[in-house]
Amino acid sequence: MWKPQERIKYTVVEDQWPTAKEAEDSQLFSPIQVGPMKLDSRTWVPAMVPWRSNENGDVTEDVLAWYERFARGKPGLIVVEATGIRDIPSGPLLRISSDKYLAGLTSLVDTIKRASKGETRVLIQIIDFLQIRRRPDPTKYLDRHLTIRPEHYTALPSPLDAKNESALRSALKALSLEQLESVLSAKEWEDLQYGYRERITDTHLSHIARLPELLPQLFSAAARRAEIAGFDGVELHYAHAYTMASYLSATNTRKDGYGNTLKGRLRLPLEVYQAVRKSCSKNFVVGCRFLSDEIINHGTRVHEACLIAKALADAGMDFLSVSRGGKFDDAKQPRVGGAVYPYTGRSGYECMPSYISDAQGPFGRNVEPVSLIRELLHQNGLNTPVVLAGGQYGFYQAESLLKQNKADIVGFARQALADPDWFQKVKLGLGNQVRLCKYTNYCEGLDQKHKQVTCELWDRENLEQPGIDKSHDGKRRLLAPMWLPPVNR
Ligand SMILES: Cc1cc2nc3c(=O)[nH]c(=O)nc-3n(C[C@H](O)[C@H](O)[C@H](O)COP(=O)(O)O)c2cc1C
Ligand code: SF4
Repeated sequence: MWKPQERIKYTVVEDQWPTAKEAEDSQLFSPIQVGPMKLDSRTWVPAMVPWRSNENGDVTEDVLAWYERFARGKPGLIVVEATGIRDIPSGPLLRISSDKYLAGLTSLVDTIKRASKGETRVLIQIIDFLQIRRRPDPTKYLDRHLTIRPEHYTALPSPLDAKNESALRSALKALSLEQLESVLSAKEWEDLQYGYRERITDTHLSHIARLPELLPQLFSAAARRAEIAGFDGVELHYAHAYTMASYLSATNTRKDGYGNTLKGRLRLPLEVYQAVRKSCSKNFVVGCRFLSDEIINHGTRVHEACLIAKALADAGMDFLSVSRGGKFDDAKQPRVGGAVYPYTGRSGYECMPSYISDAQGPFGRNVEPVSLIRELLHQNGLNTPVVLAGGQYGFYQAESLLKQNKADIVGFARQALADPDWFQKVKLGLGNQVRLCKYTNYCEGLDQKHKQVTCELWDRENLEQPGIDKSHDGKRRLLAPMWLPPVNR
């Protein structure tokens, strides 16, 4: 992962925790209304893909066990990981793209409700993404995948007369990288260096041109299924590197009314939202996750993110969850045979900051942007709850954000992974028993390789105990060790 040049190392130390009474009286553990849903506390576990599903995208026993473990900690709300809305092979990504997934998703909701004794609400994050291929072997790419154009013949350092494709491919293979770069188009060069990746601006491809026709229906069918399965609502994934975030992006230059201007960029996200709203009952929560800043050249910055937030809230979204960065645009080049991963560049760092940081440190990078977004909403009479995530691990840290009106709800992603019982422990006045996240991003490294995600603070603990579920290689436990509140010991 990209790291700031300063490379200052931060250690998470929290020696102050509230008593049970202080926690009870706190804002963090006070209820909040989110559209038609009441949360018992302002604590939120944002979506995290743990790679527990299978090639069919099913809710497996491992998926159930993963969320059961989080639900035992009783956060106010859990957002189930990014879940695909298209009925296409998507690797081991959870799917909600057909009614065949309803039974599994229903048992997932039941499991969370049962394990939290009804105290945790549950949303599912629904996602669309475009095609992406692995970085090709250069010989294979030049032999088979490159579509030959007339310009290739003339751009060669020693142009070829005959339109002989096999001679051209051989000539291309003999070029130095520098020469090859000057012969290929920018897109062909990128395909060779990073792997082919579709963009929403590839409107010469009919399936990309038709996205505005297709997506409202796909998102609304997925949301309808979520409601049937018993979820309290959906989080539309409008963040990071995926289709809907690309529509909102300042880099969206589509000329068909769905890009170019801020109004155009907002059009599809709003149409998707309207379609989802229509397909679900009024008791069902609909909100989205979007970015306070894309952190890329020519990307959306916070002043525009404020306007985007206002448009989404004006349209009637029940909540706005705000992340940042996580884009393909500045991702590291993958190895040959590997796929580009959107959390390896600077924008990825801003999404999941690690303990090696700059003078600002890893813990509050999203606070001021989120606070500006919330302020603009309030100036316009919009009280839509705003969820903040990024580097949150401490009670007083979270409580002061709420007290200063910088956010309405606090998201704890990696901290909940490090210790799913954070919420219970803090509420019971047992904060000193919390296992604090060290922000090493070991978990994110596993995610990058599509390996079962675990936390290094617990995944080697008591491995020899009978009945422990282990990773495919048998070296790691899949779930955080159990913790029982004192009364149940
Ligand atoms: C393993 C892992 C998987 C993640 N998967 C998702 C995801 O499916 N959807 C999403 O919006 N964010 C995802 N994220 C980002 C988190 O939701 C969160 O925004 C980020 O980790 C920063 O919050 P934190 O500092 O509390 O961890 C993931 C993060 C991790 C560590
Ligand atoms: S592996 Fe554990 S300690 Fe490291 S960042 Fe992930 S959750 Fe935190």
